[in-house]
Amino acid sequence: MADEYLTRNIIPAINSKIVGGKGAIFYLDDGRKVLDFSAQTLNLSLGHNYPELIEAAKTQLDRLAYHSSRFMSDVFINLSEKLVSLTDKHLNKINLKLTDGSDAVESAIKRARVASGKPYIVAFKGSHHGETVETLASSGKHFDGPFLGSSRKYLWLEPDDSCEDELAGWLRSRKDIAGVIVEPVMVNAGVIVHPTGRLRRIRELCSKFGVALIFDEIQTAFGWVGTTFAYERLGVVPDMLALGKALAPGFPLAALALNNQYDVLDYGYDELTYGGHPVSCAVALENLKILAETDFKISKKEGLLARGLNKYGGRGMGLIWGVPGQDIKRAKRIYTDCFDQGLLLRLSGDESTLILKPPLMVTEVQIRQALGIFEKIWLGQS
Ligand SMILES: Cc1ncc(COP(=O)(O)O)c(C=O)c1O
Repeated sequence: MADEYLTRNIIPAINSKIVGGKGAIFYLDDGRKVLDFSAQTLNLSLGHNYPELIEAAKTQLDRLAYHSSRFMSDVFINLSEKLVSLTDKHLNKINLKLTDGSDAVESAIKRARVASGKPYIVAFKGSHHGETVETLASSGKHFDGPFLGSSRKYLWLEPDDSCEDELAGWLRSRKDIAGVIVEPVMVNAGVIVHPTGRLRRIRELCSKFGVALIFDEIQTAFGWVGTTFAYERLGVVPDMLALGKALAPGFPLAALALNNQYDVLDYGYDELTYGGHPVSCAVALENLKILAETDFKISKKEGLLARGLNKYGGRGMGLIWGVPGQDIKRAKRIYTDCFDQGLLLRLSGDESTLILKPPLMVTEVQIRQALGIFEKIWLGQS
């Protein structure tokens, strides 16, 4: 039994083994077919085994499987250039020697602190920024975790209209704030979409007080909301932009795009052994090409999800939707029953919101199927 030797955090919630997948569907060893409205770890933006991504990985493996940060390679340089050209001109530098989203957020926190010489980072309650010590400390849900050690230099805002005045007050009265970190869409908190007006005001405040505005777009970038980055749809440009998950869908790679004002770390502080892995870079380049060439009809699919979920209090943007406010037991039952009916959803961090985040290439028929299963179970559980 695997649970005799696996640590308890990774004992799988689902007993069956996954054996393959195609598009928005994956297969289990007990013969079941499941519609993946969780995109696995909310990361497989092109679903399972997208042929061009797999081909790009294989081709790169045959060319060059690894190089250290002492060297450059074509794929590393090409991807860095491509990302700088895709992001706003304010984001004119990039660090691609990162592996996971947590690394990208850590990079932003380090840079904000070094550039300002100040320790505090403002984050939102309910946010999720990763699972390293520092990103757990910043995530607004572990205010006093025993693992935090000295990493406690965070302040948390409520994700509601009170946050602008609260932030303004802190920035006026305190001289120890280095940055503000925001997920434009707080997925783990139950898909809370910050309104554009709020983000604009936070932008103004950060500029006025010389504080770094960091967007954590690890969940939202690379097509999920219809634009390459959510900040484009929301119309507010940050000083640093943390990227991961769907950058190289299914392969480990993260990046931090930044304004050169935050280019303040020397060698030895922010480049990880497997960061910028050539295979992941090749996959990311292919992913960007696919995004540029393919119309995934996100606004049409967004409309379908909105029509199907608004009547149950759903909220979201693009293909990222949450149905919040459930009694936790009920939400867990709906989640489990949906899975038994062949639909994988996701539960929010506090397990009270059901999250739907299908891959971009999900078909309209699959969305209707998923909504049908969801509705039947939702109504049956009322
Ligand atoms: C918004 C956000 N930021 C950061 C992370 C951390 O990313 P990773 O698990 O790749 O370290 C996650 C992971 O779920 C996330 O959702």
